[in-house]
Amino acid sequence: MFVCICKGITESRVQAAAAQAGVNPDAIAQALGLHDNECCGRCARDMGRIMSYVGRMPAGAGA
Ligand code: FES
Repeated sequence: MFVCICKGITESRVQAAAAQAGVNPDAIAQALGLHDNECCGRCARDMGRIMSYVGRMPAGAGA
């Protein structure tokens, strides 16, 4: 399932990025290239919730 429509990023890519970059939502967004001018910012802003959704963080943590 896609969690970022702008960049075509899937749940599995978020999980892989979390395995590399840890569970910091901002670090994950940075690792996935979600801070450039081509991004709408929605998924980076919601990365804490997305990480909870994909099972990398307890619900409510880092949101
Ligand atoms: S939905 Fe991810 S940058 Fe727009």
